[in-house]
Amino acid sequence: MSEVMAQPSVLILLGPPGAGKGTQARMLEEDFGLVQLSTGDLLRAAVAAGTEAGRKAKAVMEAGQLVSDDIVLAILKDRMAQPDTAKGVILDGFPRTAVQAAALDALLAEAGRAVTAAISLEVDDEAMVGRVAGRYTCAACGEGYHDQFKLPAKAGVCDKCGGTAMKRRADDTAETVRERLKAYHAQTAPLITYYDAKGLLQRIDAMGPIATIRAGLAGIVQGVAA
Ligand code: AP5
Repeated sequence: MSEVMAQPSVLILLGPPGAGKGTQARMLEEDFGLVQLSTGDLLRAAVAAGTEAGRKAKAVMEAGQLVSDDIVLAILKDRMAQPDTAKGVILDGFPRTAVQAAALDALLAEAGRAVTAAISLEVDDEAMVGRVAGRYTCAACGEGYHDQFKLPAKAGVCDKCGGTAMKRRADDTAETVRERLKAYHAQTAPLITYYDAKGLLQRIDAMGPIATIRAGLAGIVQGVAA
């Protein structure tokens, strides 16, 4: 693990569905001891637990639309209040609207913190449909795989925990991915301009191999933390 972090970082990974936000966030956790905070994962946990927020979010997520800012911000605030986030966080899939970005700035300011960098994973939309439709994860530990691009060493067995049950997300159909891409371009892509104007934007070509992108991100993280 690198020791470059001078103070707890708040890194944002921006990118459309399939850009590799989750894949790379988990690697940044390993490389820098940061905590991945995925609003998609938090919402899926709320759906699975059958909470009121989860019941409201379920149909919206399955349609490929964005869950309301109120629900997402409540879930995010709860998670940010947990002590492990003091190590520094990688926000994966948050913020996704201008309202969420402003709320994040306010939440961090209350704690004397600020966004360290927003990193835009730059990809071609069409390739994202294939990436997302081929994705599956280990049901036990959540390690991510892909039918073509990231297979476990032994077919059907998780490299990380040895689990043999794999699962696919309900919103990972080609049709829903196209809706999610539309939502990204309409509501989230404008945040690239928002963070650029603040001098916080970094861009990375995320169409290459996973390991190459990991190395590029490590360089960016070391640069912004120095
Ligand atoms: P969320 O869970 O955040 O999904 P997403 O943004 O659509 O992103 P994905 O998880 O699909 O993709 P990813 O970029 O993480 O890619 P991954 O690394 O898995 O959100 C789901 C839903 O929840 C939303 O639609 C919305 O309804 C709701 N939601 C969540 N947050 C919200 C918010 N803040 N506000 C409102 N609503 C919210 O990679 C994909 C696949 O490609 C994997 O199989 C991987 O192995 C493979 N792969 C990764 N990188 C590469 C590479 N370089 N080359 C080849 N394959 C690769």
